[in-house]
Parts: sequence; structure tokens; C-alpha cells
Amino acid sequence: QATSIPADRVPDMGKRQLMNLLLLGAISLPSGFMLVPYAAFFVPSGGRGTGGGTVAKDAIGNDVIAEEWLKTHGPGDRTLTQGLKTILRAFNMKSRRALGDPTYLVVEKDRTLATYGINAVCTHLGCVVPWNQAENKFICPCHGSQYNDQGRVVRGPAPLSLALAHAGVEDGKVVFVPWVETDFRTGDAPWWS
Ligand code: FES
Repeated sequence: QATSIPADRVPDMGKRQLMNLLLLGAISLPSGFMLVPYAAFFVPSGGRGTGGGTVAKDAIGNDVIAEEWLKTHGPGDRTLTQGLKTILRAFNMKSRRALGDPTYLVVEKDRTLATYGINAVCTHLGCVVPWNQAENKFICPCHGSQYNDQGRVVRGPAPLSLALAHAGVEDGKVVFVPWVETDFRTGDAPWWS
């Protein structure tokens, strides 16, 4: 079930809230239905390519082709794609929820794709956090949390950095794989896995 921020606490974010609902609510599914695919993501891959990963989708649901993406997304670009279905045991969610998380694909300064994607779900109350190119930060429109260009939290109320996923290319397509290793931005264990 979708979670939304009460309108009186979010005076001028109608569009953002709609985006949240579209991105988060529309792809939330009954948890029972999702248990099997969820489990499948965490079955050890045994070296079979990207087992446990999922192909990134663009804004209209097409697979992201790395070469094409880099033709239209320049150095420093951070654009939302649809990423891994992760269960976030978050703050205000009483029951577990399965999501295809909106995830930023990052283009490095040398025009290559970064090997990590940044989960766009704010760690405060779950708004999708937009990238602010001018400020070189992700700035949440809901309550002002800020994250640096790698998604590390630099200003609250968000308590944690944005979650990571590995990003790679397989058969020309961008693939996200769950990130279970140390968070390279903080040196901490990943809070999301
Ligand atoms: Fe509150 Fe992002 S949801 S700052």
C-alpha cells in the first residue's frame, strides 16, 4: 500500500508527491505475491552472470542500453531508472513492502557509467529525492534532507545515506545487482541489506 506524506506537511510538492505515488505506489504489490521473486533475488548466483540482478528500465519502461544511454546522458548526469526490487524495512512502514526502487544511474566525468547506482528513496520518510545539478547534491523536497553526489547524507533529518546497488553492463544492458558489501562512502555495513 502506498505511503504518502500528509498534504499539510508538504505544502508545495504536488508534482513530487505524484511522482512518488507513481513510482512507489503503482509498483507496490501484495507482499505474498512478491515473496517468491524477492527470494529469487537473494539466491546465490553461483557465478552465473548477474544472478540476483535486474535490468534497469528507463522512464517509459524500456531496458537501458548502456551505449545509447551514454549518447544522451553526459558527464555528471544522474537520471532515474527503475532498479532492484528491494524490501525496505523503513521507519514508518509497519509491514514490509516490495518496491522496484527508483535508482539513479550515474555517468562519471570520463563518460563511463559508474559501477554503482543510487537508490532515490529518501531515508527520512521515503520521498523520491531529485538530483540538483546546480547544487551538486540530491535535495529532498519533503523536509530538506541533502545528500552529496554519491548519495551520502550531508544534512538531516534523513538519518542514513541513500542505499546503493551495483551497476554493470551485461549483453549491452545496464544491470543492477544488490549491494551487500561495505558502503564505500561511509565504511559502514550497508543498512539496507
Ligand atoms: Fe523527509 Fe526526505 S522524506 S527529508
